[in-house]
Amino acid sequence: MPGTAGAMPGPPLAAAALLALLVPAAARSPGAAGCEVPPGGRFDCGPERLLSRAGCEARGCCYEPAGPGPGPGSGPGPPWCFFPRGYRSYRAENLTATASGYTAGLRRVAASFLPGEVGSLRLDVAMETPARLRFTLRDPARQRYEVPLATPRVSGRAASTLYGVQVNQDPFGLVVYRQRGGQVLLNTTVAPLFFADQFLQISTSLPSHFISGLGEHLTPLVLDTAWTRVTLWNRDMAPVPQVNLYGSHPFYLGMEDGGSAHGVFLLNSNAMDVLLQPSPALTWRTTGGILDFYVFLGPDPKSVVRQYLDVIGFPFMPPYWGLGFHLCRWGYSSTDITRQVVANMTAARFPLDVQWNDLDYMDAKRDFTFNEKSFKDYPEMVRDFHRSGLSPGFVPRQDPGISSSGPPGTYKPYDEGLKRGVFIRNATGQPLIGKVWPGPTAFPDFTNPETHEWWHDMVKDFHDQVPFDGMWIDMNEPSNFVEGSQDGCPNNSLEQPPYVPGVFGGRLRAGTICASSQQYLSSHYNLHSLYGLTEAIASHDALLRVRGKRPFVISRSTFAGHGRYAGHWTGDVSSDWEQLYYSVPEVLLFNLFGVPLVGADICGFVGDTSEELCVRWTQLGAFYPFMRNHNDHGTRPQEPYAFNPAAQAAMRNALRLRYSLLPFLYTLFHRAHSAGETVARPLFLEFPKDPNTWAVDRQLMWGGGLLITPVLEAGKTKVSGYFPAGTWYSLAGDSTIHSKGQWILLPAPLDTINVHVRAGHILPLQEPAFSTAESRKKGMALVVALTPDGFARGDLFWDDGESWQTFEKGDYTEILFLATHGAVLSQLLRVGAHLDGVLLEAVTVLGVTSPPRQVLANGALVGDFSYRSDTQVLRVPVSLPMWEQFVITWS
Ligand code: GLC
Repeated sequence: MPGTAGAMPGPPLAAAALLALLVPAAARSPGAAGCEVPPGGRFDCGPERLLSRAGCEARGCCYEPAGPGPGPGSGPGPPWCFFPRGYRSYRAENLTATASGYTAGLRRVAASFLPGEVGSLRLDVAMETPARLRFTLRDPARQRYEVPLATPRVSGRAASTLYGVQVNQDPFGLVVYRQRGGQVLLNTTVAPLFFADQFLQISTSLPSHFISGLGEHLTPLVLDTAWTRVTLWNRDMAPVPQVNLYGSHPFYLGMEDGGSAHGVFLLNSNAMDVLLQPSPALTWRTTGGILDFYVFLGPDPKSVVRQYLDVIGFPFMPPYWGLGFHLCRWGYSSTDITRQVVANMTAARFPLDVQWNDLDYMDAKRDFTFNEKSFKDYPEMVRDFHRSGLSPGFVPRQDPGISSSGPPGTYKPYDEGLKRGVFIRNATGQPLIGKVWPGPTAFPDFTNPETHEWWHDMVKDFHDQVPFDGMWIDMNEPSNFVEGSQDGCPNNSLEQPPYVPGVFGGRLRAGTICASSQQYLSSHYNLHSLYGLTEAIASHDALLRVRGKRPFVISRSTFAGHGRYAGHWTGDVSSDWEQLYYSVPEVLLFNLFGVPLVGADICGFVGDTSEELCVRWTQLGAFYPFMRNHNDHGTRPQEPYAFNPAAQAAMRNALRLRYSLLPFLYTLFHRAHSAGETVARPLFLEFPKDPNTWAVDRQLMWGGGLLITPVLEAGKTKVSGYFPAGTWYSLAGDSTIHSKGQWILLPAPLDTINVHVRAGHILPLQEPAFSTAESRKKGMALVVALTPDGFARGDLFWDDGESWQTFEKGDYTEILFLATHGAVLSQLLRVGAHLDGVLLEAVTVLGVTSPPRQVLANGALVGDFSYRSDTQVLRVPVSLPMWEQFVITWS
């Protein structure tokens, strides 16, 4: 364990204590001795180019050809040229106390091989809360770009902390460890620090191989530390492993022996690589900005997530209808066809809340227009949808790219945008013109406040014609079909930085606009990965102003903090089994990133689906927090009604199951919004002390109470799932698992998805219907899953489902359900009017060990209860107002 003097609790650090924090330089022996580094712990001394032995040694580094070696295509392995131990870069000086922690100067003491090296740095360590530490490394002489994300402002210093900090003097390094037990969580002394204008690098050891996060990539839940590079730079890219995808979330959560967890967030939006190696260790390598780190001490993984969300913002509360079923495809080419789709869904008795239209509705694929021929009755169609008994919401798709090629005076969004100066500018100060669906396009700069006003005005104009309910913002990485711009990009250091992370396409401009284009706040080089987030904020705000209700925005591109404003779908996934599996870790990871409203395109987007795949995908999709079936143009239809009766029946079951669980799901979203919890949850969040759960990513939980075990492979009618120690009841009540913490093979015929309730939980359910507008009025039910000692609890959050900030304004109902000693009762924590008329109609108690002779509801005998001793299920039909307290007893 590291030195004695942590950042000590109590009053600000005295000078003597500070000195104790500085660990002086160890005697170093350059040359062969320093080179005795085990292969798994070697840090690359040639990050920006391949070095020969001579080139390597000229840097003072060690050369040892071993393993597959560096270089493209040679596979992962230890670097041939690596830093010796104690390689000097910066030296820490003048450590002094500040109101929030302490500060030190860093001075570069050895020549660097990178251009634009910053010779002096300032380290600031802020002990913001007992479980949160922030440290920054900045250039004190020059203001550099910093991510414009509003994070908590903390002036004081936490009185007692879970962490201790130690600063190593020369070479500079920071060590963060747990006060209790001394586990080192972060140790940046393992490799030298670099801080050049366009190359910033810092490495740390990791306390275990279990690290999760660093999206968006197609990865398992737990990343592979055997020489993995993940690249963060938002990119329009159909998901495949090992490439940078649509979003950037520079945050990881690490598990420690014993089940504690910590998290690290690098608040930096520049193109970056994060390298993982087997020692285990991690290297952050970014191309700009500053080093701005948050460390979260948990100590349990749920707390880590909440502590992260304390910094980036809690998720927005979606409208209730947003949790219903959404149907879309590219290729609904007229209102007639779109209307027919809705009619087919109704005729085949499938629930549908939200019908979507893709590009097809637009006039020449331009935003804020609709085709006057094929969509001439578009406004009426949307009004009809609203008026119909089903009242589906309606979401059309928008791109950021604004068509720029029409004659002046013919297309208001562009004309107005030009006048108001909202577009991203190229090197000559003109709007940069790229190419997206409508042809030549300009790109709104959502870091400019005027752009938000303009965007609002465009949204409002369009909404005045077509009263849509939500926004689907696509192509917002931003995607560009030409590299950089129609006129190319200038030749400069932003376009050709000394180090280019492993971005797909090899250049920063690949698939997007020129890195050196200019935005209101900074260069696109710095702001690129924030494009989707800033558009999401503008869209969220515009919708709120225009509709006056809770906004619903689904975005392809994301960055840390996105979940406060919008949800995410995982882009152009292929219709195959591998992508079906990957959707589970994607959904779980986005929940860790604070974007709980997430889902993949059900049945797959690219390519033809198959009936079996689509059934399995619909079953799993019923448990995506955001449930949308979306399909590419020209591929096989995959609406639920497009399949054989047996497949349709299986999908109908899955949809009915989801709709019946919506009160529970909505309550989970409330917990996410109000308390920073996750909705879809990896098992390890609930069972951190059971290491078998840490890597489970073929199952997911909803909250703490529901475990979903989907079939993710073709041709299987059995599925193996991990059941942490405890009692698990099938939701249907027909089987019970008493697990010691083990894998269990479950029957899984094609019409079934395995869903288990965890003993100790009470779930509020509602009779399903064909839309949430209907289902919200239906009778409710409780599933009470008793622990062996007869206990369970749960809750319900309810409001009108669409008003803005009901929780913040207190306009909601919250009910606590408790079961103990042969009784289940409700407690009204808060009562709004919205549950009026809703009755509790059924209570199912799982795990009643002896047959009851008598059941009472609010003291009145219930004659027609039923009990089965084989399954130990008690069913109690009741008719009790949900808005009043009740007690049901059995004895
Ligand atoms: C992009 C989107 C996809 C959409 C298509 C056409 O590929 O990711 O969802 O259908 O564009 O608009």
